[in-house]
Amino acid sequence: MTTPPVGIHDLSFATTHYALDHALLADRLGVDPNKFYLGIGQETMSVAAADEDIVTIAAAAAQPIIDRHGVDHIRTVLLATESGVDQSKSAGLYLHPLIGLPNTARVVELKQACYGGTAGLQFAAGLIARDPSQRVLVIATDIAKYELDTPGEPTQGAAAVAMLVSANPAILRLEPHSGLYSADIMDFWRPNYRTAALVDGKTSVNAYQKATQEAWTDYRRHGGRDLGEFAAFCYHQPFTRMAFKAHRHLLESQGFTADTAAIDAAIRHTTSYNRTVGNSYTASLYLGLVSLLDHADDLTDQPIAFISYGSGSVAEFFSGTLQPGYHDHLRTDANRSAVTTRVPLGYDRYRELHEARTPTDGRYHAIPEETTRPFRLAAISGHKRIYESR
Ligand code: COA
Repeated sequence: MTTPPVGIHDLSFATTHYALDHALLADRLGVDPNKFYLGIGQETMSVAAADEDIVTIAAAAAQPIIDRHGVDHIRTVLLATESGVDQSKSAGLYLHPLIGLPNTARVVELKQACYGGTAGLQFAAGLIARDPSQRVLVIATDIAKYELDTPGEPTQGAAAVAMLVSANPAILRLEPHSGLYSADIMDFWRPNYRTAALVDGKTSVNAYQKATQEAWTDYRRHGGRDLGEFAAFCYHQPFTRMAFKAHRHLLESQGFTADTAAIDAAIRHTTSYNRTVGNSYTASLYLGLVSLLDHADDLTDQPIAFISYGSGSVAEFFSGTLQPGYHDHLRTDANRSAVTTRVPLGYDRYRELHEARTPTDGRYHAIPEETTRPFRLAAISGHKRIYESR
């Protein structure tokens, strides 16, 4: 029996109600805005309203997929996040009733910093190889939050990307080769008692570059393609300039000339959404793919490289090819509108939202309506999160 190809059958992205302009941040921090625009490659960042969290944006990303394909054959839901709302219960179960997921599915949350979405995608491919009649809904959803007035602050952001993974996929066929690299390193972490991550920024940039090179070496060792074969490189993008740095490092490590034009050609279309959404941790790499598909000319049958990095750290280099007719399955208008309809956020409200804390007393706390997105966190009562859809 031959195994059918497995990969991404549908792909959808959502982000938050608000956007903060980096010019406001630069003004308040007293730095040249070009440090953000050019130095780290960010223009605005998505910011969650008080009634949004990783569940509401995940539901908004997944709903269009359920609307188009229904829930038939979805036997597994894998939700990847590093900004979870519960230490025990999977966020996938909070969104289960919001988007009408079937009771006959296993629902699990995955965590390994920004790598979790790739773990979900690869685990999904394994499940489908075992039974090609099944589909897996993989959702990567995160709100990236660093302390105010720290170097990490301009690299915040938020987004969710939902992927329906299936046999005979309409958009992207995953290739079997994968390169892996894991090492225990304290470059970014968030102990259970903290709401904002801790990061050693320079260490993380160096660790990311080393992990990229090591994962590439392992990919080649396992029979992967030549570097020159790829039409584009989708990198995890904590800030978009990181994709540039990582690709330059990879090219140079393999003896290629890493001129700016060559690097731009390889990554340019993958950075458009991330530049305005900011870091979305687990979703960031897949937002890069959404951006590539929405902005590049026809890539039918072209191989695309994926470089996933999650601090701590795990990296994976893998590849896929775009399927004939993939264009017909994209959601370009909806994706552009998710970005352009965000409401500009004033600096004072940004700080209030950043400093707000979840009530811990178990009483009923209604959350005033703020977001105009399809799902919202309506209340917290008896330590339970209560969501509603519009
Ligand atoms: N115009 C243009 N570029 C400017 C500039 C200006 N006015 N001012 C500074 N820059 C450039 C710097 O030269 C530097 O470029 P380089 O990295 O190519 O050398 C870049 O902007 C960043 O400046 P730097 O002083 O290094 O920034 P920082 O100390 O504030 O920290 C990070 C940058 C990325 C380390 C920080 O934002 C961070 O910790 N982010 C979170 C961690 C993270 O995302 N890790 C990635 C791996 S997952």
